[in-house]
Amino acid sequence: MYRFLINETAKHIGEKVKVAGWVNSRRAHGKILFIDLRDRSGILQTVFTPSNKETYELAGQLRPEWVVEIIGQIVKRPEQMVNPKMETGQVELSVESLNVLSKAETLPLSIEGDGYDIGEEVRMKYRYLDLRRERMKNNLIARHKVIKFIRDFLDKEGFIEIETPILTKPTPEGARDYLVPSRLNHGKFYALPQSPQQYKQLLQVAGFEKYFQIARCFRDEDPRGDRQPEFTQLDLEMSFVDQEDILDLIERLYTAIVKIIAPEKKIQQVPFPRIPYSEVIKKYNSDKPDLRKNKNDPNELAFAFVVDFPLFVQQTKEDFFYGAGEKLAPSHHMFTAPKKEDVSLLDSDPLKAKSYQHDFILNGYEIGGGSIRIHDPKIQNKIFNLIGFTSEQKNQFSHMLEAFKYGAPPHGGIAPGIDRFLMILNNEPSIREVIAFPKTGDATDLMMQAPSEVDIKQLKELQIKTVSITNTKAKKLDKAKKPAKRPAKK
Ligand code: AMO
Repeated sequence: MYRFLINETAKHIGEKVKVAGWVNSRRAHGKILFIDLRDRSGILQTVFTPSNKETYELAGQLRPEWVVEIIGQIVKRPEQMVNPKMETGQVELSVESLNVLSKAETLPLSIEGDGYDIGEEVRMKYRYLDLRRERMKNNLIARHKVIKFIRDFLDKEGFIEIETPILTKPTPEGARDYLVPSRLNHGKFYALPQSPQQYKQLLQVAGFEKYFQIARCFRDEDPRGDRQPEFTQLDLEMSFVDQEDILDLIERLYTAIVKIIAPEKKIQQVPFPRIPYSEVIKKYNSDKPDLRKNKNDPNELAFAFVVDFPLFVQQTKEDFFYGAGEKLAPSHHMFTAPKKEDVSLLDSDPLKAKSYQHDFILNGYEIGGGSIRIHDPKIQNKIFNLIGFTSEQKNQFSHMLEAFKYGAPPHGGIAPGIDRFLMILNNEPSIREVIAFPKTGDATDLMMQAPSEVDIKQLKELQIKTVSITNTKAKKLDKAKKPAKRPAKK
C-alpha cells in the first residue's frame, strides 16, 4: 500500500491511506485516544476508538517518539474540532490498524520549542534528535533550497560545477591548515584546502571560463558564532570579466534568492552599494558595517560591496603564512591583482597601491570575498618578492607561475560563505544553527567524539609517533605558532 506523506492527506478525504512517522504526542478524551503523528512533512491527528479493541489497546501503549505505521480513513473533523493553525487541521485519520515499527526511550532532550535554552553539550551529543526540532528542520530545508537555487541559477548562466581535491597542499588564506599524513609518502603531509583558490584559477587556465562549486573549506581556527573549522563556500571564478561583472552576477543571484526563497525579507538597497574601503573605515571604523536603517527589523537585509582595498597591509607581528617582521602582507590573498593604474606603485610605494578586491557584506557580517586575479607571471613574482617570500616559499607556488606561462586568461571571482548567509536569512545567532553536524567551541564533534585517539597500528603504518609534552611546554609552543590577526580585517 502506498505511503502518503502527511501533508498530502487533507486532499484525500474519504480515502483509505497508510501513513508512517513518529508519535508526536498523545492525549485521551473520554474513551477516545488521539495520537498526533509526525513525519517530515507535518503532523496528523489520528483517532483510536475502543470499538477496534486490539488496535485501541496497542495505541494505549504508545509513547512519544515511537515509530509507527497507521492505516485508516481520512475524515473531515467535526466543525468545533477544526484547527486552522495546522496544515491538516481540517481532517483526522480514523484508525483501522496500527503497526509499531520501532520503540523509543525517553529522549535526553526536549525537541519541542526552539531549543535555545538547552545546553549545547546535549544538543550536539544528540544532534540527530536536536534535528527533529521544527526550527532545525526548517533551517536545513532552507539550506537545501538556497543551494539548489544557486546551482540552477548558475547553470542557466553557463557555469559548470567542478569538484576540486580535498587532499591538497597548504593554501594561503591566513589560517592554520589541517594536515593529513601520507601513508605512501612517509614524512609527507597533505593539507585540507582552506579554499579551492588555486584550483579555480588553474581551471581558468584550463579554459572553463565559468566555474563554480559548493565547496567545503577547512581552517584550523578557533570557532566562534560565525566561524567553523569546516564550512561551505559558493566558490566561483570567471574569465574575461572585470570586477563589475562579478559584482553584478552576485547582486542578481542574491536578489533572486531572497525574492524566491525568503520573500518576507526586504532588501534595503538595489543595486547593492559599492563602498570604497577608505570610506567605510572612516565612516564606520569597520570593513563590514551593519548598514541597516532599522536594526531591530529581522526582515531587513542591507547588502553591500566594499571595494578599493589596499593591496598590502603592513605586517608587524608574526603571521603563520607570511612570517614575521616589518614587511608587507597581502590584505586579501597574494593572487589579488593591483588596480591597473596602481601597478607602477609596486616599485615606488606599494602600501599606496589599491587592489581589485571586493568584500560582500550583509547586516554587519562579511559574507563573501574575492577579487580580480593576477594572470601575469611577472606581476605575480613581484608580489611574491614584496611579501618577502623566500625561494622555498615561491617554490610552493611555482605551478601557478608555470601555468600562467601557457596562455592565462584574465580572470576573477568571489566566494560567498553559505553558512553565514543562511544564519542571517534564518535569523539565527550562530552558523551552528544552519549546519547539520557542526563542531563545538573547542572544535570537537561531541556526537562522533572526534577528534579521537587512533589505533597504534594506524600510526605505525604512517610512521608517526605521538609524544606527550608537559602543559607549559605545550602552551609555549602553541603561543609561538599562533597566527597574528591581519591588521586590515576588522
Ligand atoms: P575568504 O577567506 O574571504 O576568501 O572567505 C570567503 C568567505 O567564506 C566565509 N568564511 C567562513 N565561514 C565560516 N567559517 C569560517 N571559518 C570561514 N572563513 C571564511 C566568509 C568569507 O567571506 N579564496 C578566497 C575567495 C576568493 O578570493 O575568491 C577566500 O576563501 O563568508
